[in-house]
Amino acid sequence: MNYFKKILHFALPYKKYGILNIFFNILYAFFGTLAMVSLFPMLTVLFGQTKKVTIEPIWSGFSNTREYAEQYLNFFVTQKANQGAEDVLFFMVVLVISLFFLKNLFRYLAMYSITFLRNGVLKDLRNALYNKTLVLPISFYSEKRKGDTIARITSDVLEIQHSFLSILELVVREPLTIVFTILTMLAISPKLTLFVFVFIPISGFLISLIGKSLKRKSDKVQKEQGLFLSTLEETLGGLKIIKGFTAENIFYNKFAESTNRFYRFSNSLMNRQNLASPTSEFLGITVIGILLWYGGQMVLADKSLNAGLFITYMSLAYQILTPAKAISKASYSVKKGNAAAERVLEILETESNIQDASNATVKKDFTSEIDINNISFKYEDQWVLKDFSLQVPKGHTVALVGQSGSGKSTIANLITRFYDVNKGSINIDGEDIKNTTQNSLRKLLGLVTQDSILFNDTIKGNLLVAKEDASDEEIIDALKVANAWEFVETLANGIETNIGDSGNKLSGGQKQRLSIARAVLKNPPIMILDEATSALDTESERLVQSALENMMKNRTSIVIAHRLSTIQKADNIVVLSKGKIVEQGKHQELLENKGVYYNLVKMQSLA
Ligand SMILES: Nc1ncnc2c1ncn2[C@@H]1O[C@H](COP(=O)(O)OP(=O)(O)OP(=O)(O)O)[C@@H](O)[C@H]1O
Ligand SMILES: [Mg+2]
Repeated sequence: MNYFKKILHFALPYKKYGILNIFFNILYAFFGTLAMVSLFPMLTVLFGQTKKVTIEPIWSGFSNTREYAEQYLNFFVTQKANQGAEDVLFFMVVLVISLFFLKNLFRYLAMYSITFLRNGVLKDLRNALYNKTLVLPISFYSEKRKGDTIARITSDVLEIQHSFLSILELVVREPLTIVFTILTMLAISPKLTLFVFVFIPISGFLISLIGKSLKRKSDKVQKEQGLFLSTLEETLGGLKIIKGFTAENIFYNKFAESTNRFYRFSNSLMNRQNLASPTSEFLGITVIGILLWYGGQMVLADKSLNAGLFITYMSLAYQILTPAKAISKASYSVKKGNAAAERVLEILETESNIQDASNATVKKDFTSEIDINNISFKYEDQWVLKDFSLQVPKGHTVALVGQSGSGKSTIANLITRFYDVNKGSINIDGEDIKNTTQNSLRKLLGLVTQDSILFNDTIKGNLLVAKEDASDEEIIDALKVANAWEFVETLANGIETNIGDSGNKLSGGQKQRLSIARAVLKNPPIMILDEATSALDTESERLVQSALENMMKNRTSIVIAHRLSTIQKADNIVVLSKGKIVEQGKHQELLENKGVYYNLVKMQSLA
């Protein structure tokens, strides 16, 4: 119920459709009952049972409604009868048809209005989830499977719309239908209606028994959905490796196992749910049987009930079955929807652990220096950086080198505030980056990540990520700085060429140069470059290197370098080992020291 309330919160903007729905449903339930009741005069006319009433009856209070209605009807028929029974019959048929028409018209209008609410909630939930996906920190996703997040945004939200919100459609309609019908039944025969009252709690109890464990089952189904979407997502991303290592079977089996579990879980879920309608219908018809037996005796033996009235009563009783079935089904839906809602709300309610302080300032420019002050950091429980300090004055290029896993990329992650330091602080112009807004901090930074992250879009589209309103000239200039223009120029569609998923239509070096161009286009005061490790041939290495040099000109840069040739001109080369600085200085100084750096250079020149 709690989840339901929270989801319902998303319906608030669509309140007016909810109100319209209630309004039309009241009319629907009213005309629905009236339509059933209108069968009665037709039956009486058919059976020729109308008593002659020539004086118009007088309304004498609510308790006499039934007599009044019966009398009035007889009066009406008597008057009409002068024109012949067929006329009366025709009139009755028209009445029945019109009432049923109105009933169904209002039913449609009620469903029509609630549709906007249901789909509106679906849309807003998806937007909220997507927005949350953008807001949540990088660390949130290192544990999570991407497919699971995708499943929550797609199938879980759909499940909510499907099962959860479908009950909005019935929540007013069906109970109202039941209330109107029962009121009419009470008016016709209170004695018979007693049975119905006994039946409702008993069947409610039986149905709730069946509904147990539905949430657990549904949760399993939704989780499995996330798992197989993950497998699919990874397969698509790793097709080259899967094929190259002929691992198709391994992945197929993984997928088939998952779909198999999905098959079993959904069978058990659906069959549980499938019990709803048959059970409630059977319970209902049992009651109808009892009513027929008892009421039939009232008609046959003691003649305390008019036959036509009894038939009308029975059709009303039967009419209760449909809403009763719908309600029991809806109660299952809520249980099922609960599991999906829980998964959706889990994301929506996750607080980002990297948030702007309430008094965070907007930093407009970079004036003096980046000061990494005695920081320690761990991703999980092992310290990756320990008491690390480094100053980068404005205009300087600082290079980070060191063996794989020594914590170089981690430093980039911390300056960009993808993660927060555990101890110490990172200050820009003397101000802790925790005290500036993330947005303004990142506006100062240009980022070239270790693996070129490109989108399935045109070259232009990929660059516009850096500057939404850049002109084609600016884009071409940036491409030129990054040495990318020379290959873009030769493409049939130039900057309008689509580069495929993750840029896979391009070579490794071309991808790198594009991601450098993207950072150049942004033109930020501080550049953070995580050079790709992938070996490039000498020609593209030369191109990438001169692209980097072009880019670092007149900027403050932190360069994480694997090819030491890139950084010979750096103002400061920092050699890292296991999260600590072991050496630092200029290229020439470090060579003369004959320490770690000297050995690294020696190894690379040999290679
Ligand atoms: N998201 C993460 N979660 C947990 N541990 C991580 C994560 N990212 C990196 N690490 C660990 O932190 C350590 C430092 O990683 P980092 O990526 O900073 O190394 P690096 O110096 O950039 O290495 P390379 O030269 O190979 O790029 C490694 O031991 C790595 O296992
Ligand atoms: Mg790295």
